[in-house]
Amino acid sequence: MGKMLAGSTAIVTGAARGIGAAIAGCFARHGANVVLNSRSDSTALKETLAQIERSGGKAITSIGDVADAGYVPSLVATALEHFGTVDILVNNAGVIKDRPLTFLKESEWDEVINTNLKGAYLCSKAAIKPMLQKRAGRIINISSITALSGRPGQTNYGAAKAGLIGFTKSLAREFAGHNVLVNAVVVGVIDTRMTKQIPRDTLKEISKMVPLGRIGTPDEVANVCLFLASDMSSYVTGTTINVSGGGYI
Ligand SMILES: NC(=O)c1ccc[n+]([C@@H]2O[C@H](COP(=O)([O-])OP(=O)(O)OC[C@H]3O[C@@H](n4cnc5c(N)ncnc54)[C@H](OP(=O)(O)O)[C@@H]3O)[C@@H](O)[C@H]2O)c1
Repeated sequence: MGKMLAGSTAIVTGAARGIGAAIAGCFARHGANVVLNSRSDSTALKETLAQIERSGGKAITSIGDVADAGYVPSLVATALEHFGTVDILVNNAGVIKDRPLTFLKESEWDEVINTNLKGAYLCSKAAIKPMLQKRAGRIINISSITALSGRPGQTNYGAAKAGLIGFTKSLAREFAGHNVLVNAVVVGVIDTRMTKQIPRDTLKEISKMVPLGRIGTPDEVANVCLFLASDMSSYVTGTTINVSGGGYI
């Protein structure tokens, strides 16, 4: 397979680790310049950057909160300053604060909605401007099967991730005429720091319920994002692709 994203520039939010790091690495291997956003200047972020550079890719970091309207324009400005364009945005940054509704604090509701949903709004609003100028762009929103099937203790997360699917569909219709394609990836259980918060025994039980019999890897999500970011998906917009090993059918 050739370099499917040669010469393009991608912003990946939440790229220090897990799914975001895998998407960033995959895009860089396929020739994209990548802006790695993350909330904190962590060792993980530095390691993701170093790994991309070691394998001959081009990347820079931008540290800030995707839910902070004061920060987000600088994320896009950094991409334009260093690479001259923004072709692809992956709204991947996400958090969970799981708790039954009766114990769920307002701050936990707000943090989950703000990071997972408002962050996608702010980043898309900022990144769409250069895409409209080029009359080309891709926005990929990372949602969750919780949006489709629900999960006890995840009312905040389910609301945010379902909101992201509605956001995807409306945005796709709004900008299809400008050749900006917008899609969502509905992710099942993937082996990352986020799932390390789930007890191992529960994870084993979840794996048994997945038709493919195991949880997924970040690379398996990244490969689908590569398809959505590339010319291979030139007639795909407004859809949600389910990467869950059959966990949601
Ligand atoms: N893992 C799963 O099973 C699963 C399933 C369904 C959906 N998803 C979705 O997939 C995405 C990635 O999840 P993951 O499992 O890879 O998570 P992860 O390993 O916890 O990594 C999350 C990344 O997002 C960053 N981040 C969190 N809040 C942020 C903010 N406000 N602004 C900027 N960056 C922020 C983190 O930065 P720091 O390192 O600085 O905190 C980190 O780089 C999320 O949207 C998640 O909801 C995951």
